[in-house]
Amino acid sequence: MNDKELVAHQALQYVSENMIVGLCTGSTANCFIDALAKRNKEEKLNIKVVSSSVVSMIQAKETGLQVLAMEQIKEIDLYVDGADEITSDLTLLKGRGYDLVREKLLARAAKKFIVIADESKIVKNIGDNFPIPSEVHPFAWELVKNILMKKGTGDIRINAGKDGYAITSCGNFVLDFNFPEKNTEKLNTLLSITPGIVEHGIFYNLAHGALVSQNGRVREIWRS
Ligand code: 5RP
Repeated sequence: MNDKELVAHQALQYVSENMIVGLCTGSTANCFIDALAKRNKEEKLNIKVVSSSVVSMIQAKETGLQVLAMEQIKEIDLYVDGADEITSDLTLLKGRGYDLVREKLLARAAKKFIVIADESKIVKNIGDNFPIPSEVHPFAWELVKNILMKKGTGDIRINAGKDGYAITSCGNFVLDFNFPEKNTEKLNTLLSITPGIVEHGIFYNLAHGALVSQNGRVREIWRS
């Protein structure tokens, strides 16, 4: 079992019968979905899931999990997701993918939100390894970019084919920015109050715990 599979299996211990579980997006997340589907089938747990992306929804359906639409839920029992960066106070950076709006909604709706990752995701400050993504209304991106240029440097995200702008699952553009400011609370506030930003990649005060793997071992970090 590799390190991603290991944390995915470890997260299963927080799953119990009849739960509604929020499903994550990413390579670590994929391991969790497969492991969850297997356990659900073997132990007849009657788990229902809600997906943070079309990709995870398709994977969940293919593995036989019962998928609910986001419109059908008011809260969920558990949300398990990966992250691009994790600080010691459990602030996360997410959004290398394109599903920030759904991911943060599920994180906020969850009674318990557990992050699963390998040790490479642990950082001192958010933004150490990746720029911070902000999902913006297409008509607003130049206005928002102009505001953010006063605080940092960055640009609109180009798509994988390098022939247009990247478009999120909600039909928006993404601005990726680096900021000299390292205080995550201040950065979280700046991006949260900037008009035109629909959602951003700083997950502040949302995760309850993290399962972090390295060389076949898992350490747990919990919010105090
Ligand atoms: C998607 C995410 C992913 O959870 C994050 O990119 C981690 O992915 P991986 O497990 O493949 O490293 O935030 O928006």
